[in-house]
Amino acid sequence: MKQKWWKEAVVYKVYWRSFYDTDGDGYGDINGVIQKLDYIKKLGVDVIWLNPVYKSPDKDNGYDISDYRAIMDKAGTMEDWERLLEEVHNRDMKLIMDLVVNHTSDQHNWFQESRSSEDNRKRDWYIWRDPKPDGGPPNNWRSYFTPSTWEYDEKTGQYYFHSFAIEQPDLNWRNPEVREAIFDMMKFWLDKGIDGFRMDVINLLAKIEGFPDAEKPEKINYLGNNPGIHQYLQEMNEKVLRHYDIMTVGEIPFVTPEDGLKYVGEDRGELDTLFHFQVADDMPEWDMVQFKDIQKKWFEGIFGKGWNSQFLNNHDHTRKVTRYGNDKAYREESAKLLATMVHTLPGTPYIFQGEEIGMTGVDFDSIKDYQDIAMKNKYREEVDKGRDPEEVLEELKPLSRDNSRTPVQWDASENAGFTDGEPWIAVNPNYKEINVEKALDEPHSIYYYYQKLIALRKENDVMIYGDYEDLSEGDERLYMYTRNLEEHSWLIVLNHSDENQELTLPNESINAELKISNYEDVPEKASNLQTTLRPHEARIYSYIK
Ligand code: GLC
Repeated sequence: MKQKWWKEAVVYKVYWRSFYDTDGDGYGDINGVIQKLDYIKKLGVDVIWLNPVYKSPDKDNGYDISDYRAIMDKAGTMEDWERLLEEVHNRDMKLIMDLVVNHTSDQHNWFQESRSSEDNRKRDWYIWRDPKPDGGPPNNWRSYFTPSTWEYDEKTGQYYFHSFAIEQPDLNWRNPEVREAIFDMMKFWLDKGIDGFRMDVINLLAKIEGFPDAEKPEKINYLGNNPGIHQYLQEMNEKVLRHYDIMTVGEIPFVTPEDGLKYVGEDRGELDTLFHFQVADDMPEWDMVQFKDIQKKWFEGIFGKGWNSQFLNNHDHTRKVTRYGNDKAYREESAKLLATMVHTLPGTPYIFQGEEIGMTGVDFDSIKDYQDIAMKNKYREEVDKGRDPEEVLEELKPLSRDNSRTPVQWDASENAGFTDGEPWIAVNPNYKEINVEKALDEPHSIYYYYQKLIALRKENDVMIYGDYEDLSEGDERLYMYTRNLEEHSWLIVLNHSDENQELTLPNESINAELKISNYEDVPEKASNLQTTLRPHEARIYSYIK
């Protein structure tokens, strides 16, 4: 298998608006990221993924871009951004930027022109269709954020297509001028020296020819993985990506391992790695058996031929300790267990800001406290049907994207030390107990556990390039697997439950050396194969085969 820096890296995702505010406007900013770079570096990570900082009316927190070559006021200036890149590089880290090219903002000049008249030269840069004979939308598809993918535009009497909010019209990738404009823009950033892109919903670029009605419109898989997508990505690779030493990670919803390999196969000339959503989207609650099955299928499907990513949360998905762990009685143990898993399963691990101190999801009282456009639109849609608003709110809370978007809790001072102003979204009320200052003061904190895990990964290729075998298939609580590289074997044992679990370690691991554990008193050697794992206990052993 080819060795690559991005396979060996650990990536830290910075959602800047919730990271650290230096100018008191209640939003985090680029200067805030710069001020906290030493904190990120100390964790041992190699790469920072910065979510969109481009100019944007901010309907979807920056994922609606109105100018790809300028920086949003809330985030700072181009000079600030250039300094950030330099400071990241000075610390021997890398910076990857979000690339959002399935859609723009409706305020982008391109769309303003496109919507101005049917014969405008940019008309075909977006997707316009006539109404159905009854005046309704061209088909019955649902978008991610609204009941229809189509929005009627009075001016020209046609509908335009949007996979997300009404304010996020989709670009028409069939048009070669669009592709050239995007490729040029990518070069603009790459030539500034960035180290790669995280590509937003990149498998949505190609649309199904003719836009036929869907049998089950509520199942929106028709939005992605359509014929033409691989040509676009190969062209992008050919014209742009392959000319730089960078990493690319595609956000690829609705993808199976088989299709995934088409995006990241080493012989394909497309992307380096991907995020699939078989855990995040298909497993609303923890299901150990299903999780193992997903890991196995991805390992068998792509290992040795392409590269995977490991993550359990990000700015779109509820914090992992709340969604998949126990954020009450065993918050510390369970945050560490989930981290152990992410950092030892095959693929590049991703950390979402705040997870390294075990931040949790939120439970705000009113819909007014939530900011997420996906949640707010869905709330409105359901309440308009006549449903009880309280019931709808309770139903939407657990997976609201705001669960992960509350400000990073730096210390126990007002607003968790995030801002001197009024934070754009409320701070999680538990900031006095859970904050960075505290984590840095406690030698056994979640933070230092992450630091140790990351260091272990750096020193042991087996954690990166080793193969994977699950020794606990079907068990609903215990997860035991090995990673093997040449004579080196690592054994990872995890108890994902609130009760003690008896476990028999494999014979060959007798006297294996303990590398790390989230409990303090575990013997240094596995001298007894019969063992008991306590609630949410995690251990890594190593031995020579
Ligand atoms: C991706 C982003 C999400 C955004 C959407 C539309 O899923 O991660 O935050 O809303 O794309 O750009």
